[in-house]
Amino acid sequence: MQIVFHDTPQADGPRLVARLAVQDQLPADLPRALAEGAKAARFTGKAGQVFEGFHEENGAVSRVALVGAGKRDDAGWLANLEKAGAALTAKYLSSGEESVALDFRQGEFNPGEIMAILTGLRLRAWRWDTYRTKLRDDQKPTLSGAVAIGSPKGSAEAWVDSLAVAEGVEFARELVAEPANVIYPESFVARCRARFEGTGITIRVLGEAEMQALGMGALLGVSLGSAREAQLLALEWRGGAADTPNTVMVGKGVTFDTGGISIKPAAGMEDMKWDMGGAGAVAGAMLALAKRNAKANVIGVCGLVENMPDGAAQRPGDVVTSMSGQTIEVINTDAEGRLVLCDAITWAQKEYKPVTVVDFATLTGAMIIALGTEHGGVFANDDGLAESLLAAGLVTGEKLWRFPLSPAYDAMIDSPIADMKNVGPRYAGSITAAQFIQRFVDEGVKWAHCDIAGMVWADKPGATWDKGATGYGVRLIDRFVRDTLEG
Ligand code: BES
Ligand code: MN
Ligand code: ZN
Repeated sequence: MQIVFHDTPQADGPRLVARLAVQDQLPADLPRALAEGAKAARFTGKAGQVFEGFHEENGAVSRVALVGAGKRDDAGWLANLEKAGAALTAKYLSSGEESVALDFRQGEFNPGEIMAILTGLRLRAWRWDTYRTKLRDDQKPTLSGAVAIGSPKGSAEAWVDSLAVAEGVEFARELVAEPANVIYPESFVARCRARFEGTGITIRVLGEAEMQALGMGALLGVSLGSAREAQLLALEWRGGAADTPNTVMVGKGVTFDTGGISIKPAAGMEDMKWDMGGAGAVAGAMLALAKRNAKANVIGVCGLVENMPDGAAQRPGDVVTSMSGQTIEVINTDAEGRLVLCDAITWAQKEYKPVTVVDFATLTGAMIIALGTEHGGVFANDDGLAESLLAAGLVTGEKLWRFPLSPAYDAMIDSPIADMKNVGPRYAGSITAAQFIQRFVDEGVKWAHCDIAGMVWADKPGATWDKGATGYGVRLIDRFVRDTLEG
């Protein structure tokens, strides 16, 4: 979806014209038939509501879409504006219309609000049709452009910034949507190399031999059953002053999770192609930061592994030694994400001496039981960091909810034979997973863990996404960086 800006309507502009309506305030200048029609259809301007009418003027007929923007005093006002833009796309994506004009000449919206509308418009147009060779014409997207008319000065410049973030979200969605025969550790890296060319991001990659030499027995143990070589990927963005410390974002990138020898049931196992959603969010966020030239030093680290059962796979009961030197009894090979994260975090701390580490992972099914698909779970050893992440979640609509950490939960993963085991008892599964990761966080490092198992994939269309990959996490990270590192 290409978006352009014009001061006034072009003579050959789109037939489809959209007007945004704040809840219970129909635009005052609406032609009478449209205003009557909207009322008759009980259009009130609730966020995402769309009313369509036709209007004739000087012999030309336009197709008018009234789109509800919700209430200004709503805490989720900006998120609602995104939803409004997205609703417009959802309605007209395969309608035959190729372009839509958004008329902002009444001046009701400021540039930030317009950016939210356009971001929603753009994000909802994303689809991954690469493998659908038999789409009927009426299933194919037609809407490929939008013209913003009469938006305030500076809007086109502001859009460069918003577009950077949208492209980050789209990149994350692409990585998540691709099947595991296409995206595996090495091809994930290759796709990043291609995508980050010319962005100013420095890419570092460790293969299995290098990880072996560093003693990453936990991460490598997960990879033993896989024919694919594990990779540790670092994406370095240095847009801040040289003397500002690094912030590290770590992503779980299990490109497919069969469970390993503790194999998962067949039903629904295909979902585990998106077990790299944390790594996808981190890669997408790094793209956003680079493309909008963020004034911050942020390193994205992705632990990329495939978890397969095989003659060479690790067994329940195996003891592995992590890079930190701590030993782990692998009770369940399906609790692999924490084994990947612990070595990735140890390496990142040693390599980049960060003040803050935030990890993103589709870590536990228990988190979906707790929060469903409305919030990701966040755990943190620092209240300020937790607050910043919660706030970023509220602003972007990528919401988080905080969970506890404590020594009593920590004791639940003590092992009789090693320093710890990789699973605790049945209860508090998401918390014991977080406690496991915390054992690898260095003294003095502010750390948060975001368990986003319920957020990266959607079974039905949502605010700014169709069913499938949501791109969750990219805007959360981008907002966190803006407000805490650049602000
Ligand atoms: N990737 C899964 C978590 C998951 C499950 C994400 C379902 C999304 C949907 C993770 O590797 C896993 O298998 N976790 C186990 C942990 C258990 C063995 C302690 C789980 O949640 O069942
Ligand atoms: Mn698993
Ligand atoms: Zn997993």
